Amino acid sequence: MKPDTLFPELNIQLNEPKPVNVASVPQRSLFRYPGGKTWFVPIFRRWLRAKSVKPTTLIEPFVGGGIISLTALFEDLVSKVIMVEKDDEVAAVWQTIVNKDTEWLTRRILTFDLTREAVTNEISKTPRTQKEKAFQTILKNRTFHGGILADGSGLIKNGENGKGIRSRWYPATLAKRLLNLSCIASRIDFRCDDGLKIMGEFSAHKEVVYFIDPPYTAGGKNAGKRLYRHSEINHKRLFDICDSLRGDFLMTYDNAGEVKELAQKHGFQTRLVPMSNTHHATMAELVIGRNLSWMDRLL
Ligand SMILES: C[S@@+](CC[C@H](N)C(=O)[O-])C[C@H]1O[C@@H](n2cnc3c(N)ncnc32)[C@H](O)[C@@H]1O
Repeated sequence: MKPDTLFPELNIQLNEPKPVNVASVPQRSLFRYPGGKTWFVPIFRRWLRAKSVKPTTLIEPFVGGGIISLTALFEDLVSKVIMVEKDDEVAAVWQTIVNKDTEWLTRRILTFDLTREAVTNEISKTPRTQKEKAFQTILKNRTFHGGILADGSGLIKNGENGKGIRSRWYPATLAKRLLNLSCIASRIDFRCDDGLKIMGEFSAHKEVVYFIDPPYTAGGKNAGKRLYRHSEINHKRLFDICDSLRGDFLMTYDNAGEVKELAQKHGFQTRLVPMSNTHHATMAELVIGRNLSWMDRLL
């Protein structure tokens, strides 16, 4: 095999790294998530497949839309996942899936006649149950600008192809994803909690691996603040906890000086990976881990 065809799904030529083609990655999440890691899926697969012993559990302490955890489950890369998310609206969606209320949610999505007025009316209600909150969250995520749920976000105006408020509303697709999710729900341990706390609790477990994608706020950067309701995290403490883990971890960050310094201080390795942002501009994100030599054949 020619070296430049070794990793076709990465769409990377040896001398000319290109971002991953996200259209080649199956979409499994109900969310369109700001800062979502669909582009990272091929690299994540390589990481777990390169391991001599299959890990039992993946912990995702900042799970958001959860594409990495879902890929790990659907592709049987681990037996179970522990997903952690602090945002109670995002959490309501995961909890509804884990509680097996997917049929209710599916019916609600399929029968909702989406107009600007109907959305405004629906999201002004105080949800009485977890599943009602989950429906509101999906509605907001699909009709708010950039899928952003943080305070200050609001309804999209023109949307894709002039389709306005409905431009990201695909009821049948969401219903299909919910049906698929119901098949793996029993392998998800979801916790609405602090990801750092849960990492600390599992630090002695060596059969566990971690995919860590925190809000990008290190070095005073603001991207994470605008995108998420919870964005304040102690980056130094996160690196200390990573150092204490017996299981392996992979972390993604923005390419900030403070982050590289923290990685260096702990003796972690870093690699830059090309990715396309929502405006199709090519940027580079930082991948951090204990030993990333397996990545060198990819980049
Ligand atoms: C960069 S996003 C994760 C995106 C995710 N990897 C995806 O593909 O959708 C970071 C997430 O961490 C959550 N978060 C922030 N602080 C947290 C904390 N202390 N514990 C758990 N989750 C937290 C945010 O609400 C946000 O959903």
